[in-house]
Amino acid sequence: MKDTIILGIESSCDDTSAAVLRGNEILSNVIASQSIHEQFGGVVPELASRAHQENIVPVVSMALKEAGIRLNDVDAIAFTQGPGLLGSLTIGTSFTKALSLATGIPMVPVHHMKAHILAHFIDDASDLKPSFPFLCLTVSGGHTQIVRVNDPLHMEVLGNTIDDAAGEAFDKAAKMLNLPYPGGPLIDKYAQTGNTQAFQFSKPRIEGLNFSFSGLKTSILYTIRDQVKLDPNFIEEHRNDLCASIQNSIVSILMEKIEKAVKETGIECVVIAGGVSANSELRKRLIKKTEDGWQVSIPKFSYCTDNAAMIAMAGKFSFEAGVRADQSVYAQARLEW
Ligand code: KG4
Ligand code: ZN
Repeated sequence: MKDTIILGIESSCDDTSAAVLRGNEILSNVIASQSIHEQFGGVVPELASRAHQENIVPVVSMALKEAGIRLNDVDAIAFTQGPGLLGSLTIGTSFTKALSLATGIPMVPVHHMKAHILAHFIDDASDLKPSFPFLCLTVSGGHTQIVRVNDPLHMEVLGNTIDDAAGEAFDKAAKMLNLPYPGGPLIDKYAQTGNTQAFQFSKPRIEGLNFSFSGLKTSILYTIRDQVKLDPNFIEEHRNDLCASIQNSIVSILMEKIEKAVKETGIECVVIAGGVSANSELRKRLIKKTEDGWQVSIPKFSYCTDNAAMIAMAGKFSFEAGVRADQSVYAQARLEW
């Protein structure tokens, strides 16, 4: 039997991406990132939609070409239905509907956050494939969750952020340090040579497996404000120490809750997903937990941030389980788990 070929399409935020998956192997994964948002310090939804419109046709054509696959060979088109920015999602969804109508290729709707988790099952995503059930710490610009993954189609959210997401905490802290958007990777970079103990910020006290980052954000803001009053060059002079201390605080909040989740569920197989899983400190602290017997799986950098390869992978699981969308399908900014 021939391997299933899935064309994946992702347009939930500010990256237009298309990928071709054959079996569990990625043949192409084209990503057009939108640098236009940098100057605004965050994603401007209207501009994102416009850029998706410009990019989607060339990106999909390039993905098929790089994979050496003709549209006729594609078994299904998997697309991000939500969650995300409505205008952005609508471009990918409408494009998929038109392509499906013109070619008769079936469509499979994909949940963006579930796709981040299922990216682990791409052949070259990680050396160690997680075994079910496992826990996933899903950390992106819009989400921070602990998910119990029973199988590819059945997941349960055990904990959620009650305010900002971890990526948002990184990005907002970076903005306070006058770093461009998205600031997470820059905080990571400067933290490499900084002292994690140079500054102490307040720690949240949140029940259960939920997260909160707003108190930390205020604490960082006040520290910077007070110090800048004393020394106008404070930020530039202490940039690396500030980055290391901020990163340490955010990662400690994440680690404390995932440790609690492992204790409560007895599940020691832990994976990370989403843009913030590219963070080096989080990766290091998780890998250290293997000394305590945890089985830890960390995806390749290219599958951490938004990409269509993960959409194709998630789409393949759903396609094989018989999931299809018809022409009445529409994008949803908020999509239930
Ligand atoms: O999953 P993603 O690409 O997009 C969303 O669906 O949100 O995540 C983007 C987030 C941004 O907040 C970005 O700052 C953060 O991931 N990020 C990082 C790193 N790389 C990306 N945060 C901390 N350290 C990194 N190395
Ligand atoms: Zn994402």
